[in-house]
Amino acid sequence: MKKLFFIYFLILSFSTVAQQSENSENTEEFVPTNEWQIVKEGQKIPPGLHIRLNLETGLREAKLIDNNEQQSSSNSIIPVPTETTQEEISRHSLEQAFANLDLSKDDVKTDKTHEEEIRKQFRSYEELKKDFESINMKIQTDQEILINLIDQLNKTDNNDNRKTILTDLEYYLHQYDNAILFSDLNGLDLLIDLLNSTNTNAEIRSLVNLVLGAAFQGNPKVQLKALQRGYIQYFLHLLNTETDDNIILRLLFTLSTLLRSFPQAQKNFLKHGGAELMVKILNQTNNKIVVRALTLMNDLIIEKEQVMDNKQEVYKDIHILNQLVDYGWCARISTRLTLFDTDNFDHIEKIIHAMIPFIDICHRDFIHLIPTLDKFHKIYIKNNFDNDSIYMDMLNNIHIILTKLRQRSSDDL
Ligand SMILES: *[C@@H]1O[C@H](CO)[C@@H](O)[C@H](O)[C@H]1NC(C)=O
Ligand SMILES: *[C@@H]1O[C@H](CO)[C@@H](O)[C@H](O)[C@H]1NC(C)=O
Ligand SMILES: *[C@@H]1O[C@H](CO)[C@@H](O)[C@H](O)[C@H]1NC(C)=O
Ligand SMILES: *[C@@H]1O[C@H](CO)[C@@H](O)[C@H](O)[C@H]1NC(C)=O
Repeated sequence: MKKLFFIYFLILSFSTVAQQSENSENTEEFVPTNEWQIVKEGQKIPPGLHIRLNLETGLREAKLIDNNEQQSSSNSIIPVPTETTQEEISRHSLEQAFANLDLSKDDVKTDKTHEEEIRKQFRSYEELKKDFESINMKIQTDQEILINLIDQLNKTDNNDNRKTILTDLEYYLHQYDNAILFSDLNGLDLLIDLLNSTNTNAEIRSLVNLVLGAAFQGNPKVQLKALQRGYIQYFLHLLNTETDDNIILRLLFTLSTLLRSFPQAQKNFLKHGGAELMVKILNQTNNKIVVRALTLMNDLIIEKEQVMDNKQEVYKDIHILNQLVDYGWCARISTRLTLFDTDNFDHIEKIIHAMIPFIDICHRDFIHLIPTLDKFHKIYIKNNFDNDSIYMDMLNNIHIILTKLRQRSSDDL
């Protein structure tokens, strides 16, 4: 029996999907028609086309989307059997297919978006597997694939191979059970070694952080393993010594996946100088870094405030707020706020939000911010054209802070 397999991508929202190879850019224009045409190596194609990977030739082909295909969801991947020799779908072919969806190029500020994308793609991979299974294609189980990937990662010292393996791992480790298995097989140690190695480049270290974040997030068993292996202290050490801003952002992201909803880790974080380090990070010139550190601290403070009665005991020795204040948080946050661009709405919103738990304890420093806050208040009132709810929240927060500060300053007189 003869079969031929294609993997189809329906590309609706990716604008620069055709960069299969960065070094060999092909400037020849791709003119799409209703017929499948081969996309040449490095050739750019316009967005919104139907793309498929011919698994036999390894070449990509594209055509205009038929009107009756418009309904299907974006990125749907449909293997279509036709006539030729039965051949096993190799990992390599799948990787080539996924190479279209370059996952490493997101802006660091969009970790949440990136995660969403990964989730979507993971689902389509699941669907893909189901499709293959339904036509009796042999495909490895997740467990087999993970063992394989760990083994490959352990063996290779080539950064391109590492990149491919890490990108694969990020898919798999978003799945709860996969992350536990990975951790049981000591996969975390391999990742940590990569972070600690002097011969890995920034791209690899950045990817390693994403993979670790995927494994830790919402996964208490994996978080516990990381705690037991002393990784929190290690992350603090890395944050303290790292000089690349993008990696610092990534490290903060990974640290946050380890600390959230995990009080034992928060205790360990404080024990190893986490609060002092966060105050030091407020001295960074990069606003994104400052905002991320502020947001993390604020989230942990709120987590403790909102903890249910039966869990309060666990949090009772965790005094993040007081420790931050002891190391000079109030003065730092005051200095920083005056340095933010008034038109970076997202940054201002987060910094204002993060000030609220500190109003009373920091009021001596915050009082100097009354003119700055007044200025923000005026600007945001003026811009709040249609009573946008996010603006309303922020105006409300500024109002709360200003009212309390004015009240405190008149009490002090
Ligand atoms: C990596 O390889 C070494 C040497 O073969 C082995 O001792 C170690 O257990 C491997 N690590 C993992 C996580 O598989
Ligand atoms: C990182 O490397 C240094 C020096 O090679 C070593 O002393 C340290 O224990 C390593 N840290 C981790 C967490 O592996
Ligand atoms: C932050 O910078 C200020 C001066 O800009 C300095 O006085 C302070 O010691 C620094 N704090 C830390 C923790 O580095
Ligand atoms: C916004 O709210 C203010 C005060 O509540 C009101 O006077 C104004 O008309 C509202 N504007 C719009 C566009 O809804």
